[in-house]
Amino acid sequence: MSYYSTLGLTKEPFSTSPDPSFFFRSHSHLQALTRLEIAIRLRRGLSLILGDVGTGKTTLARTLLGNFPQEDGFSFHMVLDPSFDSEFQFLQHLARLFGVPVLAKSTLDCREAIEHHLFQSGVSESHTTVLMIDEGQKLSPDMLETLRVLLNYETNEYKLLQVVIFAQMELLGRLRRVRNFMDRVALKYMINPLDEQETAELIEFRLRSAGLREGQTLFSPDGVQAIYAVTQGYPRRISLLCHNALEALVMHDKPVVDAPLITALAAQEAPWQEHEAVA
Ligand SMILES: Nc1ncnc2c1ncn2[C@@H]1O[C@H](COP(=O)(O)OP(=O)(O)O)[C@@H](O)[C@H]1O
Ligand SMILES: [Mg+2]
Repeated sequence: MSYYSTLGLTKEPFSTSPDPSFFFRSHSHLQALTRLEIAIRLRRGLSLILGDVGTGKTTLARTLLGNFPQEDGFSFHMVLDPSFDSEFQFLQHLARLFGVPVLAKSTLDCREAIEHHLFQSGVSESHTTVLMIDEGQKLSPDMLETLRVLLNYETNEYKLLQVVIFAQMELLGRLRRVRNFMDRVALKYMINPLDEQETAELIEFRLRSAGLREGQTLFSPDGVQAIYAVTQGYPRRISLLCHNALEALVMHDKPVVDAPLITALAAQEAPWQEHEAVA
C-alpha cells in the first residue's frame, strides 16, 4: 500500500511533476497567468516569464495550455528544451510543430515557408499561433536572433506569432546583448517565491486536491512555519520536503508533521538539492 493511501489520500499530494490539477494560484502565479492570457489574446508578440529554478515556470506553462480549452482559433506549441545545434535545425523543428511542409533546403527557404504559413493562418484564417519555449536560458544568441526575425512578422495591428519564453534570470543579460530584442518584449514578468501564508495555502490546496478529508489535518501550524523557514517559499522545495515529511509520518506512525520533524529532515539533508542539480 502506498504511503498516501495509508494517510487516507487518493493521490500522491506532493509529486514533483508539473501537473496543472495541483497548480495553486498564488499571487505571483495568478498575475503571470492572467497577464499572459491577455498578451496572447491581444497578439502582442513576445512575453517573458522569469524565475529561479523551482518557482513553477513549467507548471505555469502547462496550466496556461489548459486555460485555452479547445477554444477556436488558438494553436499552442511547446518547445521543452531549445538547445538546437543550428538555426536551420531550430527552424525545421518549428516548421514541423506548426505543420508546415518541410521541403525547405536552406535556412532562408525554411523561414519563408514559416512566414507564409503564419500569414495564411493569422490573417486569412484569424488563427493565433503560440510558441511556448521552456528552459529559455538555453537559447543561444543564434536562436534568439531567429526568434527576433520571426517576431518581425506582423500586420498593422498585431504580431503573427506569439512567443512565450519561460526562463531563469540569466537569460536577461543575453537578451540585452541581442540588438533590438528587448524592444520586442511586450510582457516581462518575474515569478517570486511564495510568502509564508501562501506556503501554508499551497500545502493545504495540494492535500485537498489529493483527497484529504474535511477536518483531517496532516501538518501542524508550527510544521508549516518550519517548512517555510527551510524552503523560503520555493514551490519545488516545498513539494519535496512535504513529500519526505509525509513518508516519515507513515514510517514513524506519527499523527501530524510538526516543526521538530521538519527540523530533523532538514538537518538530515537538504532534500531538494540533488533534484535541483539536475533540474
Ligand atoms: N503554483 C504551484 N502550485 C503547486 N505546486 C507548484 C506550483 N508551482 C510549482 N509547483 C511545484 O514545484 C515543482 C517545480 O515547479 P516547476 O514548474 O517544475 O518549476 P520550474 O520550471 O520553475 O523549475 C512542480 O513540480 C510542482 O510540484
Ligand atoms: Mg521548468
